[in-house]
Amino acid sequence: MERLQKVIAESGIASRRKAEELITSGKVKVNGKIITELGTKVSSKDKIEVNNKPIEKEQKEYYILNKPRGVITSTKDEHHRKTVIDLIPTNARIYPVGRLDYDTTGLILLTNDGEFANILMHPSNKVEKVYMAKLNGIIKGEQINQLKDGVEIDGTKVSASRVKLKKINEKTNTSMVQITIHEGKNHQVKKMFNAVGFQVEKLKREKVAFFNLKDLQSGEYRKLTPKEIAKVYALK
Ligand code: URA
Repeated sequence: MERLQKVIAESGIASRRKAEELITSGKVKVNGKIITELGTKVSSKDKIEVNNKPIEKEQKEYYILNKPRGVITSTKDEHHRKTVIDLIPTNARIYPVGRLDYDTTGLILLTNDGEFANILMHPSNKVEKVYMAKLNGIIKGEQINQLKDGVEIDGTKVSASRVKLKKINEKTNTSMVQITIHEGKNHQVKKMFNAVGFQVEKLKREKVAFFNLKDLQSGEYRKLTPKEIAKVYALK
């Protein structure tokens, strides 16, 4: 179920604000009945009309992208930097599911299906995200345990469900560490490593839920299969 104003806005006939005005001014019908209350929930089965015309639903699209460095995870950028949307040729109003920093690479999903995005982002679904981080120093077992037990970032305690040391390089004084988290707080991985005394020099997201980057080079994308989409809905 989605909010009526959101569904109207997603059909492309009005902005979210304009859609709210259309509702409050009595121009919107759901299943033949005028609805003036904002926030009314509707499903895909409901018939929505604006000014007595049925709204057309935009086809749902779903993509997985291997985000390169130097691209922002947003639909537009006021400084005209390249966005993840620029990498996918479509007219659908897709947006990224969650966020990767400008300098973070790796797996990002994009869609115009709000429910699909919510399933993946809602904390109660505890969707796993796996990252590979290059740290400026040699990490010790004690610090790995601290990350698993929980560290405080921005006033809340967050923990990693898995932390695996993959490689250390004494010469460059760096460690490669794979870390699995469930939340998606802003800069979470960098802040967690900061909390145990490291800077993250490079960060790549390798997995989200059951998705991985198999066969996708940096900058490449593909459409999700119907089976993958159904599997996300089954996570609910
Ligand atoms: N955590 C971060 O610090 N950065 C990202 O881009 C993703 C997770």
